[in-house]
Amino acid sequence: MSQPDRLPHDIADALGRAAARFAPLNVDVVWYDEVGSTNDLVARLGEGGTPEGVVVVADAQTAGRGRLGRTWVSPPAAGIYGSVLLRPSATVVPLLTLAAGVAIADGIEAATGLSPVLKWPNDVFAGGRKLAGILAEGGDFVVLGFGINLRSGAFPSDIAARVTSLEEELGRPVDRGSVLAECLVALAARYAALQQGRRETVLQAWRARAGAFLGRPIEWQGAAAVAEGIADDGALLVRTDRGVERVVAGEIRWV
Ligand code: BTN
Repeated sequence: MSQPDRLPHDIADALGRAAARFAPLNVDVVWYDEVGSTNDLVARLGEGGTPEGVVVVADAQTAGRGRLGRTWVSPPAAGIYGSVLLRPSATVVPLLTLAAGVAIADGIEAATGLSPVLKWPNDVFAGGRKLAGILAEGGDFVVLGFGINLRSGAFPSDIAARVTSLEEELGRPVDRGSVLAECLVALAARYAALQQGRRETVLQAWRARAGAFLGRPIEWQGAAAVAEGIADDGALLVRTDRGVERVVAGEIRWV
């Protein structure tokens, strides 16, 4: 694995200002100007025994991945591309991606004032379009990857039309260092809550941000259904003509 690059000043300054609030997670950010995928680098660190809390952040990715095998287009300076190494206890794992969605939304709100909404399982939306996404990959440890769109103009035009970015929603430049730092502060807090058994706080925060999508029609397994809410283990509760069913993985289509 190549050596990290020097942290850009804006990122280093923001992380320095937030450092006291990262506890109880031992957040250690390393920066690369360009990587294949930050999730891959963190997976390698995890396999090598690196303790939890290391965060790889890159200015650009050449092989960024999204959920369900999709590509996450990651041009330079257009987004925040980061992955955190976590070593959670087994009971925490099912709620980890929901907690990450809450944390990214909370962090964005703390840094910018924009109040994003969450769409199950962990898409972050603003103004009706996708603003950020989370990709959790796991084994003996969990790699929690997050991509936050900063600047839509830097994306290819087909993608720019479908997604939104912080600058587009706010109509002004954004301090990416503060967004990163506040997201890591929020992630450390939500992760600690789960590890300490305070699952309800995460579920409540998730439900509060997902209100706009609950009660909405969806398509699941080719049939019309309604997204009713989430169960205490993070499963989506879906009302079909057979009754209420649980969706733990797989694609639902919002209609
Ligand atoms: C999604 O499909 O919504 C999840 C997108 C996750 C993208 C991030 S960017 C940093 C990390 N590295 C990757 O290759 N993917 C995640």
